[in-house]
Amino acid sequence: VEKELTKKDLQDKKILISAGPTREAIDPVRFLSNYSSGKMGYALAKAASYRGADVSLVSGPTQLQTPLGVNKIEVETASEMETAILKEFKEADITIMAAAVADYTPKNYNKEKLKKRDAELKLELKRTTDILKELGAKKRKDQLLVGFAAESEDLIKNARKKLASKKADYIIANDISDKNIAFASDKNKITILSQNSSQAMPLENKEDLAHKIFDYLI
Ligand code: CTP
Ligand code: CA
Repeated sequence: VEKELTKKDLQDKKILISAGPTREAIDPVRFLSNYSSGKMGYALAKAASYRGADVSLVSGPTQLQTPLGVNKIEVETASEMETAILKEFKEADITIMAAAVADYTPKNYNKEKLKKRDAELKLELKRTTDILKELGAKKRKDQLLVGFAAESEDLIKNARKKLASKKADYIIANDISDKNIAFASDKNKITILSQNSSQAMPLENKEDLAHKIFDYLI
């Protein structure tokens, strides 16, 4: 670790990272979200900054402290995250989508607080933009694009599908079938996939894992 703290192998690199959940408002007091803590994305931002990179972190709501030297851009919704990321993307040498972006958002926002009425309530939702896929379509040859895949079954098969459909250079496959790892945990177990490689990593603390991810990508 000591060696890692002093190495500046990401000097002069611009790195864009997304982290945390998004929140999709239903009415003034309610939202749809997920259990993402933001820890993996923040660990990546911290590791990249230690290693000399110029880091922008587009973050949904989290309880985490902004790592030293990192330019944090706070967002709430998937749509705000998309706007913030697209603004930074052209400048980024490496982009890592670690955020747990909502796949759906309420079709209509209720300006007034919803009143309880019937025994059942149907909420209509619509798809959000797949930001990673959008970046995959826009990506230049000199840019590296990395996504995550959170899977509770068929980890590698589903992650490989995401690698292809989103045109990412790497997908970090995240097994969320074990409740004790991945989401909101301090540890994570991942496999890094590219079109022609697969590297499984042992269960590890997210901060150490972040350094190993950069070791591997470099
Ligand atoms: N992602 C994104 N924009 C979205 C949804 C996901 O950029 N609207 C990104 C995530 O940040 C992650 C990758 O896509 O890097 C995979 O996210 P994941 O939720 O695992 O997969 P989805 O493509 O959303 O498919 P599904 O949830 O159905 O498995
Ligand atoms: Ca999803």
